[in-house]
Amino acid sequence: MSASHIPHHVAIIMDGNGRWAKSRLRPRTEGHRQGVEALNRVVEAAARAGIERLTVFAFSSENWRRPAAEVSMLMKLFAQALRRWCEPLAEAGVRLRVIGDRTAFSDTVREAIAENEAATAGGTKMELVIAANYGGRWDCSQAASECAAAGLEMTPENIGRFMSVPDVDLLIRTGGECRISNFLLWQSAYAEIYFTDALWPDFGEDDLKEALRWYEGRERRFGRTSEQLRNGG
Ligand code: IPE
Ligand code: IPE
Ligand code: MG
Repeated sequence: MSASHIPHHVAIIMDGNGRWAKSRLRPRTEGHRQGVEALNRVVEAAARAGIERLTVFAFSSENWRRPAAEVSMLMKLFAQALRRWCEPLAEAGVRLRVIGDRTAFSDTVREAIAENEAATAGGTKMELVIAANYGGRWDCSQAASECAAAGLEMTPENIGRFMSVPDVDLLIRTGGECRISNFLLWQSAYAEIYFTDALWPDFGEDDLKEALRWYEGRERRFGRTSEQLRNGG
């Protein structure tokens, strides 16, 4: 694949952990554990593929509605993974950043985030963005507030500068659902959207490559005609 066809920014809605576990008669928690391993594999594969930024949806602002035991298990798993990944990510040159409203997290989770962000701050190979307690509508409203606080006129360009991440080129959703679930609403305005039935714990390098090949075949027109694109503009 030529470098010009590699999407700069890939985002993933990592869905299907619960169904993966259910199909094996295992508790949902086991699906989430395997989901962390899948993320590990995909981060390595994305860095190898030359993707500059990978944003993954780990916990939505709506996921607090799940049973308390599942929520607390997910928080524990999140803090554990952040700690475990400090060294390997730093060594691989991957810089980690968490987006979302952090005020709802426990001190343990906030500390784990801070530790990982500090340990990996020097990474230049790829940025791994974890969306946790994230909602696309929250992102739009925080960006609008920041824009106002900076005394800028609320134009799309100005608001866009305060969004948590820049525009997405390729958005992948695993688990078979064809919806956005309040993920990167603003940033997906022109994303190529790839839905796959693969359940997240089963997703790996080959699946990522397949999505990248599909992306390569898209013609991104941004409102123009094919003829205009062929004639260079
Ligand atoms: C995605 O998997 C993980 C999170 C939302 C935290 P799910 O837990 O939503 O899995 P399904 O959709 O029930 O299979
Ligand atoms: C979206 O998945 C959130 C994450 C993957 C973290 P959900 O499983 O929560 O989405 P819905 O509720 O089915 O739309
Ligand atoms: Mg789900």
